[in-house]
Amino acid sequence: MAMRSKLVAGNWKMHGELVQNQDLLKRIMLETAEPGEVDIAVCVPYPYLPQAQSVLRNSHVFWGAQNVSQHEKGAYTGEISTAMLADFGCRFVIVGHSERRALYGEDNRTVALKFKAAQAAGLMPILCVGETLDQREAAVTEQVVAEQLDAVIELAGAEALGKAILAYEPVWAIGTGKTATPQQAQEMHGFIRDRIAVSNPQVARELRILYGGSVKAGNAAELFAMPDIDGGLIGGASLIADEFISICRAAKN
Ligand code: 13P
Repeated sequence: MAMRSKLVAGNWKMHGELVQNQDLLKRIMLETAEPGEVDIAVCVPYPYLPQAQSVLRNSHVFWGAQNVSQHEKGAYTGEISTAMLADFGCRFVIVGHSERRALYGEDNRTVALKFKAAQAAGLMPILCVGETLDQREAAVTEQVVAEQLDAVIELAGAEALGKAILAYEPVWAIGTGKTATPQQAQEMHGFIRDRIAVSNPQVARELRILYGGSVKAGNAAELFAMPDIDGGLIGGASLIADEFISICRAAKN
């Protein structure tokens, strides 16, 4: 069976506040410290990166951001560069989250550029792919996800996925309480791995593919039990210490 260690990453989205963050970060750090094979990360809003760094430094918990500019530096008012994220000790950065794609017009090409820029700065991109409900109902799920993947493979090469994490997040399952069934998720994770295997079988075998979309303490274990699900990208439940800690524990079993 797979030798991939699981990864549970929190995506706080636009949530957080200094005092509450401190408690949440400390609890995650202290209450997931018992031995077990799982990597844990929190992707926090930019202003809280120094806080994450100061609490989590020297711990087993990684931190990262939720977006990044594809440009190195320059006249890009309001943008944040990969070097800035590296400066604050980020290990991970989410690229191509469906909310960025839908609300901020990020297309496959832009996402691929962000992916490549992140790697150039030594960050590990968490590349999000996934279909909308309309697309699933129109039976174009595989085509949509293949195009999202191929844009990155064409720009960065399949080997580049060896230094990245993938997250399959069906848009209809995000924030809706409507989780994909373990079988539905497994089907797409298998599809993604097979597609990458065509270009590079070793990278495909070793790649961690996270599931995201209404993962909670109550459904994490059954999702993580599937052969091609290597952890989760957690939205709402990552803001609740008990929930997130339980999800991390479910990934250890
Ligand atoms: P929820 O866990 O809130 O459904 O969000 C999933 C997500 O978008 C993680 O990136």
